[in-house]
Order: sequence, then C-alpha cells, then structure tokens
Amino acid sequence: AKSYNITLLPGDGIGPEVISVAKNVLNLAASTQGIEFKFNEMPMGGAALDLTGVPLPEETLTAAKQSDAVLLGAIGGYKWDKNEKHLKPETGLLQLREGLKVFANLRPATVLPQLVDASTLKKEVAEGVDLMVVRELTGGIYFGKPRGFGTDENGEEIGFNTEVYAAYEIDRIARIAFETARKRSGKLCSVDKANVLEASMLWRKRVIAISEEYPDVELSHMYVDNAAMQLVRNPKQFDTIVTNNIFGDILSDEASMITGSIGMLPSASLGASGPGLFEPIHGSAPDIAGQDKANPLATILSAAMLLKYGLGEVKAAERIELAVLDTLNRGFRTGDIYSPGNILVGCKEMGEQVLKSLDTKVPAS
Ligand code: NAD
Ligand code: IPM
Ligand code: MN
Repeated sequence: AKSYNITLLPGDGIGPEVISVAKNVLNLAASTQGIEFKFNEMPMGGAALDLTGVPLPEETLTAAKQSDAVLLGAIGGYKWDKNEKHLKPETGLLQLREGLKVFANLRPATVLPQLVDASTLKKEVAEGVDLMVVRELTGGIYFGKPRGFGTDENGEEIGFNTEVYAAYEIDRIARIAFETARKRSGKLCSVDKANVLEASMLWRKRVIAISEEYPDVELSHMYVDNAAMQLVRNPKQFDTIVTNNIFGDILSDEASMITGSIGMLPSASLGASGPGLFEPIHGSAPDIAGQDKANPLATILSAAMLLKYGLGEVKAAERIELAVLDTLNRGFRTGDIYSPGNILVGCKEMGEQVLKSLDTKVPAS
C-alpha cells in the first residue's frame, strides 16, 4: 500500500475535537483506496505553550517539514490572549506558515444545495455561489517590518505595522490565482486598496503584468471596501478572488457566512514545494469548546483538500466530499447549520455519520 506521513496539529479549543473526527475519516477513506496513513500528532499553539513554553516547538516544525502533509485544527484561546506577541498561539501559526513557505492559501466557499436554508442571505442570492478566495499568506502586514510598539514625537504610546509586498511575492500568488481561475470559470477578480496604499498600487501593477501570461482569463479589479459590499449584495458575480494576506483573512470569513457557517469552510495552504498545510478557516471557538458542538465538516473538507492538493489522491478526496453531501442529504446538522426539519447532532455524531456515508453510500472506486 502507498503510505503517507501526516502531521496532525490538533491545537486548542475545538481543534482536538474536529481533528479526532477528521483523522477517522481520513483513515476510512484511505483504506478502500489502497492508501495508508502514518499520523504524527504534535503540540502547537496554546497546547504547545503549556507543554514547552513556545507556541511552535522546533520539533513540531521539523516534523511538519518532514511529513507529506500537515492537518491543523485551530489554535488560540482566552488563556493566552494577554501573552506577549512572541508567546501567542497565533504567532506560532504564522511561524508555521512561514516555516513551511506556504504562500498560497486557497479558501473555497461553496453554497451546497442542502444548506441554502442555513445561509443568512436570501435563497436567490446564496443559491449556486461557488467562489475561491486565493489569499497571499506569508507576506503583507502580518510579516512586514518595521513593526512594534514605541512612542511618537509627542510621547504618545504607539503600535505600528507595515503593509509591504515585493514584486516577486505578488507575481507568484498572481500566477497561482490565474491558474486557479483558468481551471474554474476563467474569471479572476483582484481585490486591493490601490486608491490609497502604495503596496496595493504595486499589487495591481504586477497582477496586470502577470495577466499577459493568461490572455484566456478575464481579469477585473475591485477595491476591498466595495468587494466586502459586493460579496453580500451579489456573491455570484465572483469566481476566483485574489488578494493580500489581511484582506483575504477578512473576506474569507465573510464569504463563509454566505455558505451558512464558518464551520463549513476548508482551506489549503501551498508553497512552491514541500508539504502543504490544511486547516479549516475558523478558529478555536472557545465559546463552544469542550461541548461537542463544533461542526467538523470544515476540517473533514480540509482533509479532502489535503488528499487532492497535497497528495494528488483525487479519488479519495472525492469520496470524502461525497460522504459529506450524503450526510447532509440524510439530514444531519450541527447547531451552526441547523434548520427546522433536520436532525441536530454534535461533533462526534456528525463524524460518525460521515463515516457511515463513506462506508455504505459512497462507491470505493
Ligand atoms: P472563531 O472562528 O474561533 O469563532 C467565531 C465564531 O464562530 C464563534 O461563535 C464560534 O463558536 C463559531 N465557530 C467557529 N468554528 C466553528 C465550528 N467549527 N462549528 C461551529 N461554530 C464555529 O473566531 P474567534 O472567536 O474570533 O477566535 C477565537 C480564537 O481562535 C482566537 O484565539 C483566535 O486568534 C483564534 N483563531 C485561530 C485560527 C486558526 O487556528 N487558524 C483562525 C481564526 C481564529
Ligand atoms: C486564520 C486566522 C489567523 C490569520 C490568525 C489566527 C493568525 O484568523 O487562519 O484565518 O489571521 O491568518
Ligand atoms: Mn481568519
């Protein structure tokens, strides 16, 4: 059997709950495809802080780098919110993305017919939405220097960050976005703030330059404030969106709500080479952690993205996607996507039902 090494980073809050479910789904999906997984579970985020004093221990990064793919739950929580910057769980996640050099973050938002009722948007607005946010992940204001705390000329305390992009960083994410758009409907919308920010002016210039290589893709540009508005006014106008790190963070949470819940949205973070990082776009949800209420589907769908984008195991990935659809067809819903007439279940039961669908309803080949 083909064997892959997967690093599991459960993290904090609902992270361990959704990872435990996704692990079982991966195992069952693999077994019928002649694939075998070796899982290596490592500490990350707040869990790592408590255990080792740092949010991304060296052993965790090394294990991640040496594996075939990395599946992360979520990190963060009240307990560590007041920590200094370098001792925050979130800093560990940024170090992981930087360490794995995964500059391209694919965040698909698809309104499944089964969940149209779960969207807060009107049926006719939400129905049929199928878009992909391509978020730059290792640059921009998250990593830009100078950054820090200090005092201004009046002695006033200040905090500062820098939005900075080099041409090569824009070029490589633009190429990923054009390739993505080409495989989808051939429409790419680049979202920036080029009316105000120099980093965005360069962004737009480089995206236009790279578009010469993709004459078959229809490119448009939109300011981010308008894009935030257009996403809820008429989301079907979008196919592929490419944007910087912080705008992508915000717009993908917004896009998730069109689909019904942030608990549904998976993501894939890819670099030029080496293992990809796969994680739901949601956080550790401390408000529902430990209560078996989390929707595990975003993580299960991230596991499907791991199979497809990380390992090229497209068949196994499709089986997981079909199992999720079958589970929804059979009426099972966690609280975040519940609508009357369906069956309300917790995280574990949702996982069991996906396993059942995978086992009995989805053909193995
Ligand atoms: P969040 O995504 O954790 O939660 C926002 C809201 O969505 C909460 O009401 C939560 O209950 C709900 N929610 C999220 N995931 C859900 C799921 N799978 N099923 C059902 N409901 C779900 O965002 P937040 O509250 O702003 O952040 C909480 C912590 O998570 C913070 O420490 C933050 O830094 C961290 N965070 C981590 C990641 C990550 O690990 N990639 C992403 C975002 C936020
Ligand atoms: C995400 C999160 C992270 C981000 C945080 C936790 C660092 O919000 O994965 O979307 O801002 O990228
Ligand atoms: Mn986010």
